[in-house]
Amino acid sequence: MSSELHLKDITKLLIDSKTEQEEIKAVNLLSNFYAKILEVILFKDFNATGTEVNGGLALSPKHAKDCLEDYVRTARFIKGSYKAIQKAIQIFKNKKIEIVYAGTGPLGTLLVPLLPLFSSDDITITFIDIHESSILSLKQIINHLGYKAYIKQYLVEDATIFKFKERAHLHVAITETMDKGLTKEPQVSITQNLVSQLSDKGILVPEDIEISSRKSFHAKEKAFKSNTNYIDYINPEQKDVLFSINKNMKSLETKFSFESDRKFFNQDFEDTPDICIYTKIKVFDDIFINDGEALITNPYCVKSLYALKKNTYKLQYTTINTPHWSIN
Ligand SMILES: C[S@@+](CC[C@H](N)C(=O)[O-])C[C@H]1O[C@@H](n2cnc3c(N)ncnc32)[C@H](O)[C@@H]1O
Repeated sequence: MSSELHLKDITKLLIDSKTEQEEIKAVNLLSNFYAKILEVILFKDFNATGTEVNGGLALSPKHAKDCLEDYVRTARFIKGSYKAIQKAIQIFKNKKIEIVYAGTGPLGTLLVPLLPLFSSDDITITFIDIHESSILSLKQIINHLGYKAYIKQYLVEDATIFKFKERAHLHVAITETMDKGLTKEPQVSITQNLVSQLSDKGILVPEDIEISSRKSFHAKEKAFKSNTNYIDYINPEQKDVLFSINKNMKSLETKFSFESDRKFFNQDFEDTPDICIYTKIKVFDDIFINDGEALITNPYCVKSLYALKKNTYKLQYTTINTPHWSIN
């Protein structure tokens, strides 16, 4: 069996997966597939040092490669990107779909597996990563798999500021450059830059990232890669939606900041002592990543109520310097 057919089979299994177990199994097959390619390509020494960019820290090539094993994340992003590209082909009839994938990492994990399901007559791709070694590795993988015809260009650029020469021809923009609660990594700044260059009916992947908050017992919450017995945990608090990151950021050229309404709390907070942030990702259409299903949607604790001097606070978020939350 040629490696191309093999990848197509794995991707089909992944796209058709119905349960989390099936998703994990398919992503493991994908991981083994990449491991075999890395045995034969020349460029595979990925360093573990990230790079500070405008609006966050760009994950190192090594850590970007390891994101593959955030199983539900990888499965849902591939499923969502598949649907998004199909939708773009429908919307922009008779046009070659221009896709930009910003923050590819060394494997191009979210898009390379989909290539055998599309024709290079229908789609063309710009890959961007700030790390040259990631782009060099990706280029070798593409050449090894015989997918050169799909690629428009490889760019070693900062996706928070890079401007395309021909404006507004982008049909699909894909980026996963985030950590839980939209902290640390530059997802928001990259999204702001990309959506300002999307064509009118263009599609952003992820379509929407909803950030909400509530008081909770952080250590008891469902979280990927934690051993919590979360099934028994009942939190009486409702989540408050704070803001969403999506295509409507088009008009925002400046840094993104948010401040919540003033919140008050009673002194009997032993059952919910932590101010938590929740991340829900709508990758595209009906493909979601919910709280605690992936490292990037794990609950994030901003502060313990025990550390506050008054019974009131406002939540603040900003992308200035490193994206972070604070309490005022
Ligand atoms: C979380 S990893 C994701 C890797 C891969 N796309 C995946 O989903 O498995 C983020 C990647 O985005 C890149 N990146 C982060 N900020 C960037 C920026 N401002 N410009 C270009 N690339 C960036 C990092 O170098 C890293 O390769």
